Amino acid sequence: MTSDAIVDLVALGEDFTRDPYPVYAGLRAQGPVHRIRMPEGSDAWLVVGYEAGRATLADDRLSKEWRNASPDLGVKQVASGATMLSSDGPAHTRLRKLVTREFTPRRIEQLAPRIQEMTGGFLDAMLAAPDRRADLVEALSFPLPITVICELIGVPALDQDSFRQWSNISVSAPVLEDRLAAAKAINEYLTNLLAEKRRNPGDDLISALIQAADEEGGDRLSGAELLGMAWLLLVAGHETTVNLISNGMLALLSHPEQLAALRADFDGLIDNAVEEMLRYDGPVETPTYRFTKEPVEIGGTVIPGGGQLVLVAMADANRDPARFEAPHRFDIRRDARGHVAFGHGIHYCLGAPLARLEARIAVRTLLDRCPDLALDIHPAAIQWRSGMLVRGPETLPVRW
Ligand code: HEM
Repeated sequence: MTSDAIVDLVALGEDFTRDPYPVYAGLRAQGPVHRIRMPEGSDAWLVVGYEAGRATLADDRLSKEWRNASPDLGVKQVASGATMLSSDGPAHTRLRKLVTREFTPRRIEQLAPRIQEMTGGFLDAMLAAPDRRADLVEALSFPLPITVICELIGVPALDQDSFRQWSNISVSAPVLEDRLAAAKAINEYLTNLLAEKRRNPGDDLISALIQAADEEGGDRLSGAELLGMAWLLLVAGHETTVNLISNGMLALLSHPEQLAALRADFDGLIDNAVEEMLRYDGPVETPTYRFTKEPVEIGGTVIPGGGQLVLVAMADANRDPARFEAPHRFDIRRDARGHVAFGHGIHYCLGAPLARLEARIAVRTLLDRCPDLALDIHPAAIQWRSGMLVRGPETLPVRW
């Protein structure tokens, strides 16, 4: 059971943004389901803990479709078009099938040399700084994933600075109007980009999808679906991996014994270390919205039907002592598998193999090229991205 009182996460302010883990753990001690007021401005039902959280991620009584959201919520779809992430059932299967092939581990592994080359280039630029200091977000965590995803889908000419700004605002600005305005800018930008691609098709994913959209018959993609796909791949492809690299490096640099262990046996430990980075301080704190289609009972609490907003504290699931021993300890040797940092169920992250590969290459290359890399800020002074969706530092000053 849980009390009917609303837990006002907004009132916790910066403390909650900086370190949400104790807040979630305190809620978990009282039960798996809570009424909350989100920093994004609406009320929601929050599911904490590993077991309830994982089950909720895969619960098909919850819908990802915005038409099922209660109009009283005061939330609005920010992303444009129809995407797999905002579809249920067969509509989801159809959209996901169109791109699944491109993201299999084997396909992604072929990108390794190119990702290595890009990483080298970004680090050359970073290491040229005469004062031997840089913001790691600016120098590597941001440019690597956005450049990789742009090249993969075929939009090398993306205006990265504008796109980054709009994308950041659209996923984590506190004011809804700001998020919607940024989304509109992305829409217009992508519409032009797709028109340009249609005029000059290449041997890339977007061109292939445009062809699928233009073909008569077959599995025709609508214009809105095409736009949605481009949007989803670009935003999901970089808003998250940025923070895997940043949060992961922050964890390593603030746990010197773990860093030393990784340096001593990189090949043996890196895969596991990346899983632990995802578990310990993953890039997605709570996933995208789910709406009740019918009353849903979770852990003794009945959440009413009719489009109530349900969020899963994935960050808390990954720190639940019932699933991970001493969960607040960052330990690159532990078995971190089973974490839900990439979600669970039919919406399990399509880009997981790509994110893992980028993180492995980024961390290895950074450690190789900077044997004395260190944080250039006290961890408590780090400014974190606002909102409950993504978790990551705004900047991560380092020196070498
Ligand atoms: C560390 C990096 C990443 C993390 C932590 C992450 C996390 C997630 C999570 C939690 C979900 C499920 C959301 C939900 O159920 O509400 C998801 C879905 C998705 N992710 Fe990722 N992601 C990452 C990187 C990527 C990359 C690089 C791509 C590139 C293509 C990508 C593409 C997608 C797509 C397309 C979906 C929707 C899948 C579906 O609805 O079937 N992600 N991701």
